[in-house]
Amino acid sequence: MFTTNPGLEPVVAEELVATLGPVTITPAAPGYLLARAEAPEPVVTAAWPRLRSVQHVLSPLARRTLPDPPSLADVRAAVAELELPALRAARSFRVEAVRVGQHPFTRVEVAQKAGGALVARHGTRVDLSAPEVTVRVDLAGRELLVSLPLTHAPLHTAERPFRQRVGLKRNVAFAAVHLAGLTAPAHIADPFCGSGTILLEAGYAHPNAQLWGSDWVARAAQGTLQNLEHDGFGARAHVQPLDVRAIRDVYPVGRVDAVICNPPFGVQVGRKIKFFGFYRGVLELMKEVLRPGGRLVLLTDRKQAFDDALRHVGGFRRLRALRVETGELAPWLVAVERLSPG
Ligand SMILES: C[S@@+](CC[C@H](N)C(=O)[O-])C[C@H]1O[C@@H](n2cnc3c(N)ncnc32)[C@H](O)[C@@H]1O
Repeated sequence: MFTTNPGLEPVVAEELVATLGPVTITPAAPGYLLARAEAPEPVVTAAWPRLRSVQHVLSPLARRTLPDPPSLADVRAAVAELELPALRAARSFRVEAVRVGQHPFTRVEVAQKAGGALVARHGTRVDLSAPEVTVRVDLAGRELLVSLPLTHAPLHTAERPFRQRVGLKRNVAFAAVHLAGLTAPAHIADPFCGSGTILLEAGYAHPNAQLWGSDWVARAAQGTLQNLEHDGFGARAHVQPLDVRAIRDVYPVGRVDAVICNPPFGVQVGRKIKFFGFYRGVLELMKEVLRPGGRLVLLTDRKQAFDDALRHVGGFRRLRALRVETGELAPWLVAVERLSPG
């Protein structure tokens, strides 16, 4: 079972099929996918640590749909029915709980109720600091998912030299690169690079692409370069401090295969009309920078303003749009293609 941001399930499904061949996928809850691969187990075991669209990998044990709305007593009753051989064989265990959605109780209470039910049935001792087995209990809405976690931290969260508060989650950056749908690109660019999360994912996904990045905050541009060098992409990195309006002076104009970015959004800038003008300016620039057939992928929480600007500027074709839950916000990942002039 794989977890991701709700909304990114199609990207996980596509990455699974690309990595493992035929896979039967069953959605378990928003952001949770059960997958059964035809490939032999050693192939699957070797492949999952390389997946970039997922956060956690779990070995599923049981799945129950609780009454609506679910209560702690429902959690306890559902867990009490489960026979977990892994727990019977262990001397100690703990429950790690995750709660998604609105409930009138906390994840700690979910862990306590589930843990109590498991102790009562299996007699195994609880050890919160060094348990032999960790049982994960996810309550997503009214779906109760019990599993053994194969990951303890989200995949690929290795330390990087430079981090930024507004940095994207790595798997969302992967999804943005994936949505561009590129084959053997030569040039990929992010003119709002921040800490470079998107360029890093582009570097992994496309080993022969030149990586063009800029940000008008000099520390961000410098940090992006450090991050790209840290992951071994220094020789392909072209990063500098630059206002987006100046990228024509630096980027390979008319030859860029994809611009993939998350420009600033949210409460800072305010009214829609400002966003329309902002996106119009960005799209006009992209018309020059992208090659015909080149792709723009952009994360926006003002999709209407972006769509209006897209219509106004013209010369692009819509490819895909996915709404992604990223904590408090649910912005859109939008992919468009630059049409050939005329
Ligand atoms: C949301 S952050 C990007 C985060 C980045 N994707 C990451 O994962 O680290 C937006 C970035 O755009 C930069 N920015 C805003 N306006 C800009 C402009 N006019 N020209 C260049 N960079 C700009 C900000 O400094 C900020 O680093």
